[in-house]
Amino acid sequence: MSEPMRTEPTRLAPDEILAGLNGALRAERQAVADYDAHARACERLDVRNALETLRDVEREHGLRLARRITALGGSPVSEPADARPLGESLADWLADDLQSEQWAILEYARLVAGIVDDDETVELMTELLVDEIRHATWLKSTLRALAHA
Ligand SMILES: [Fe+2]
Ligand SMILES: [Fe+2]
Repeated sequence: MSEPMRTEPTRLAPDEILAGLNGALRAERQAVADYDAHARACERLDVRNALETLRDVEREHGLRLARRITALGGSPVSEPADARPLGESLADWLADDLQSEQWAILEYARLVAGIVDDDETVELMTELLVDEIRHATWLKSTLRALAHA
């Protein structure tokens, strides 16, 4: 009888973790620039206020990621982000924002799953992941409301 096959859990290497955290930092900076541009362009006060809140949350995410990268001996990427080209309507902007949040959800979950020896970084990425899920849920419901307006 053959031995049952042993499978190894995914285990990200230290350089893969730092690369992932810096990719997340870049995405957070992009999100700050995009939410800021969308808030400025938005004529609906309630949506504008929500977009400004999201922008501020993403800024805080970026600061926490940079601190964690430094604590792990890495160098946080420093290039600033410019807002992406503005779509034609509020629904277009929110759809772009939702796409960015969906990327973050998948990427942060990948890091949470694959970081095996560093509970503090897992905790950070779990908190950020929960925030991004909430952002995505708000974007989805707001897009639905716009579609039925
Ligand atoms: Fe974020
Ligand atoms: Fe977000």
